[in-house]
Amino acid sequence: MKIGIYGGAFDPFHKGHLSMIRGAIASKKVDRVIVIPTGMPCFKPARKVTLSPYRFYMVKAALKDEPKCEVCDIEQVFGEPSYTVTTLKNLRKQKVVSDKDELYLMCGSDILFEFESWYKPDEILKQAKLLCALRPGIDEGQAKNQAMHLEEVFDTKIKFFQIDGIEAASSILRTRAEWESSEELPDAVRTFIHTHDLYCEDSPLMNVSDEMYALLMKHCFTLFRELSGKRLLHSMNVCVLATRYAMRFGADPDKCALAALLHDCAKELPEKQQIELAAKIIHGYVPGKQILHSPAGAVYAAEHYGVTDQEVLDAIQFHTVGREIMTITDKIVYLADKLEPSRDYDDLTLIRKYAETDLDAALIECYCAIRESFAKKGMLIHEDTKKSLAYLLANRKN
Ligand SMILES: [Fe+2]
Ligand SMILES: [Fe+2]
Repeated sequence: MKIGIYGGAFDPFHKGHLSMIRGAIASKKVDRVIVIPTGMPCFKPARKVTLSPYRFYMVKAALKDEPKCEVCDIEQVFGEPSYTVTTLKNLRKQKVVSDKDELYLMCGSDILFEFESWYKPDEILKQAKLLCALRPGIDEGQAKNQAMHLEEVFDTKIKFFQIDGIEAASSILRTRAEWESSEELPDAVRTFIHTHDLYCEDSPLMNVSDEMYALLMKHCFTLFRELSGKRLLHSMNVCVLATRYAMRFGADPDKCALAALLHDCAKELPEKQQIELAAKIIHGYVPGKQILHSPAGAVYAAEHYGVTDQEVLDAIQFHTVGREIMTITDKIVYLADKLEPSRDYDDLTLIRKYAETDLDAALIECYCAIRESFAKKGMLIHEDTKKSLAYLLANRKN
């Protein structure tokens, strides 16, 4: 089978990318296309690239119904800078493609002019041939001359295919205002960006330290393997929102970001394992099913993710029901978990509004809303939530 390999940061995925995929398939030069969102990019400064699982699931959403096309997660589990040559070799090694498949690395004509400066271009061409898109308006003669030059240098054959005129660059679509008015995004991408509040102007993660940013990226690769897409996206949303709250309320952005990203890290482990983990810090009883992952998560974060900061571990442990005296990190992770942008189970407007200016007021409102919804079901809120609420009310200044 002839397979087009289409890699990129896709930050965000736009209609220009879509026209590449559709054009390659329509040209019949390939039978199908494997789309590979980059994990850890080699070339762009890492901080400016949206966390890779967001980009991966954005592309998945955009191509959900696209025929003859699949989105491959090979770079999402590979926590090192992804060179094209490594990815191509891994595709074969991991049997994503068979040894018999012919691979065609899809690219724009501009790539022909920079290809020689890529990392190990000769080895890339041992794994795949280049399949180059020609857009209306580009100088075809120049592109073909350059292709002939590369064919000679590398003893390869370069194929071309035509695509329609859509020209878009992700780099010009990086601000919220621009994407909202842009026609360049598929509807699914627009919805995804809106749901997860991406490309927002305050870019909260710019406020964590370089070391923490690198750590968050590393943990995303592990979490990608351990959590479903929905839960990982939720965890990243909580991470971004918690960092925003940390800046707003004078907490430590590194601690809040880390605790928030890992707060549900044990939630998809088998129940038996969660019970064993929780038993290391909770003695004498087994926490209820909904709460179990919080103490289990604190232990798992320490043992599996190497977290040593007790404040971070506590925020993970107390994110479901709170505790009598909450630290600022506890409060922020607790609230970010309930208020992250994809949460739509209740009317969160009032709590979100309080969280703009007053953390304790938001927490009180949140506890009261939970108490009310529990009461409707004939249930009582957890004893620790009750204590936390009572403490906050008793210590309100006005
Ligand atoms: Fe949770
Ligand atoms: Fe959560």
